[in-house]
Amino acid sequence: MAEFTLRLRRYDPESGDAAYWEEHTVELEPHRSVLEGILQAKNRYDGSIGIRCSCRAAICGSCGVRINGQPDLACHTHLGRAQKRSKDGVIEVEPMGNMPVIKDLIVDMEAVHWKKIRRVTPWLIPKQPVPEREYIVPRENMVDVTQSMACIQCGACVSDCLSMEVDPEFIGPAALAKAYRFVGDPRDDQHFERLEDLAEDPHGIYDCTHCFACIDACPKGVAPMSQIMRLRRRAGNDFHIEDRNNGERHEAAFVSLVKQYGLLNEAELLPRSYGGDTPLAKFKPSAAAELASSLPAIAKALLRRKVTPAAVFKPHKLPAADRKAVKAIYDEVEGRDERLEFNIYISGRDEDLL
Ligand code: FES
Repeated sequence: MAEFTLRLRRYDPESGDAAYWEEHTVELEPHRSVLEGILQAKNRYDGSIGIRCSCRAAICGSCGVRINGQPDLACHTHLGRAQKRSKDGVIEVEPMGNMPVIKDLIVDMEAVHWKKIRRVTPWLIPKQPVPEREYIVPRENMVDVTQSMACIQCGACVSDCLSMEVDPEFIGPAALAKAYRFVGDPRDDQHFERLEDLAEDPHGIYDCTHCFACIDACPKGVAPMSQIMRLRRRAGNDFHIEDRNNGERHEAAFVSLVKQYGLLNEAELLPRSYGGDTPLAKFKPSAAAELASSLPAIAKALLRRKVTPAAVFKPHKLPAADRKAVKAIYDEVEGRDERLEFNIYISGRDEDLL
């Protein structure tokens, strides 16, 4: 047995008091979970501590909390490890972010997480006619969606999504990973409709800013951001959906700039995003209205000297040898007969992709 001190975030909206921290010392073996520690504190000291749990085996997704500032499952985190990772030897537990707190460590999953899951039509829309016997799904298709199927809906990725912090309407990593589960399934009949919907939505697939927080947060290796990138590739490369948010062209601008200069030329990013992916097409008259709506962002970039007029005419770029090396990567990837999706959940070995 060892002693562990838990610092729990307490909040009871009905009391009218502000949230506060409360410490309890529990006695358990280091390999026992933070959840067991919280439940011991609840049994021994204060039965009013609010925590949601069910399976206690990292399956049901009920016990998502933040431990020492990181989202995780309380039942899946050893007390000993959590103590080692703490700042001062005290294990800090607080409710997940981006969702309203109902009480103490319990957040309102319905208000955010489940609402967004419903937004993506989270069920299969079967192709017609339905076969008399079972559908036969190619193995590689099932492998492709297995990673998104592993989600246990704990909300850890939603908790730490930086895009959602800025735009609470963002559909978010969990729901978009769920969307890929059906877009990647050959039995589903609405791939184009689903992708068009998610690309056209201003809070859809192009609202993700690639911060990787959801990948770090996920306790099941779902890598929601990777699923969002898969959705984008399906939307842009396979269905050629040019969305009204300009997301597809913005992404194409990144790709073409790195290919040309070896690195991102910020000065050319906006005009190329709005005008097209070649320098000659950059000032397409049809893009003028969209470009005009970006003027506040352009003004800010100029004021902060992120973009300078000189850089437009004399872009920074890698030395010729390095640009050649970057181009070789493009040639390798673009020269493949089919696109390979990296799926660490299944293979985990680079050689499988070669
Ligand atoms: Fe079920 Fe933790 S209690 S995942």
